[in-house]
Amino acid sequence: MKAIILEQIGGVDNLMYKEIDQPVPKENEVLVEVKALGLNPVDIKVRSIEPLADAIYGKDRPLILGWDVAGVVKATGAGVSKFAPGDKVFGMTNFPGAGKAYAEYVATPESHLAKMPENVSFEQAAACTLAPLTALQAMKPRVKSGDKILIQAGSGGVGHFAIQIAKHLGAHVTTTCSAKNREFVMGLGADQHIDYKTQAYEEMLSDIDFAFEMLDETTIANSIKVMKEGGKIISIAVHEFPEELQAAATNRGVNLSNLLVQSSGEDMNTLRGMLEDGTLKPHVSKVYDFSEVAEAHNQIESGRTVGKLVMRM
Ligand SMILES: NC(=O)c1ccc[n+]([C@@H]2O[C@H](COP(=O)([O-])OP(=O)(O)OC[C@H]3O[C@@H](n4cnc5c(N)ncnc54)[C@H](OP(=O)(O)O)[C@@H]3O)[C@@H](O)[C@H]2O)c1
Repeated sequence: MKAIILEQIGGVDNLMYKEIDQPVPKENEVLVEVKALGLNPVDIKVRSIEPLADAIYGKDRPLILGWDVAGVVKATGAGVSKFAPGDKVFGMTNFPGAGKAYAEYVATPESHLAKMPENVSFEQAAACTLAPLTALQAMKPRVKSGDKILIQAGSGGVGHFAIQIAKHLGAHVTTTCSAKNREFVMGLGADQHIDYKTQAYEEMLSDIDFAFEMLDETTIANSIKVMKEGGKIISIAVHEFPEELQAAATNRGVNLSNLLVQSSGEDMNTLRGMLEDGTLKPHVSKVYDFSEVAEAHNQIESGRTVGKLVMRM
């Protein structure tokens, strides 16, 4: 099968197309013929940061990137009970771990998949994996109806799903992004948009119950200032907080913690329901061919992506 392999951690030029053996599904695994793949900033981070690649994939090289798949079941291990050949499925395979989805076929635990809804394409389904799983796992246990919440980077992959999920949970949503994406985030249901280039949200907001942080230490420090006592901040981009940041949170009675998304077929089934009833609408801003992985990585690296990017096999 055709796959994109990475012999050495580094730039996009290190991503190489190669014919390799098709994986054989283990007892509880499903072999998926990949039809579309979702791309994420973590693809770029693992491609270019050796310690992160080691932490997620171990020392084995070459490695195959990719976690977000939509496709068709080709074969199943003997212990698989939920899926059969021919089923259309989607999910985030093996995260955090060796995803290996940048390939024509991927073997993935059945517990990481859900059946694809009938009303979305493979490209849309592939977009509805890591990013909305992160938003769901961050907010579902912490956000309740009537909460005032702040979602950073509402126009991005995670942010645009987070706005929709937060509105579904009944929250009042303020979100940040630049002015060019204002209409997009307001169209997703946001109640208030703040242009981070010309406005200082830390001077405009107060009494925030929950802040979803996906930028950096500076924005976390600013978010701490606008929280209600007892409010919660979840960070998905900064995982180790400097002492002064943790102290600032403690002084204001704010609960600051981080989250790493986990593969979950159960949560994929929740997303499937939200896609079916129209609660969740993925925005795929560009579909690349499998041959255009370098262009897709460069676009993610720009930091200007609106919604999701997908590669089609
Ligand atoms: N821990 C986890 O499990 C987990 C899971 C998913 C993602 N993440 C991390 O979360 C981060 C976001 O991921 P993503 O997929 O949403 O990224 P993304 O799609 O690449 O985000 C791009 C968006 O960010 C906006 N943006 C950039 N700088 C901004 C700023 N200073 N203020 C407000 N908005 C800004 C941009 O809007 P403008 O063009 O308008 O500026 C753009 O639309 C990444 O670091 C990713 O690795 C972590």
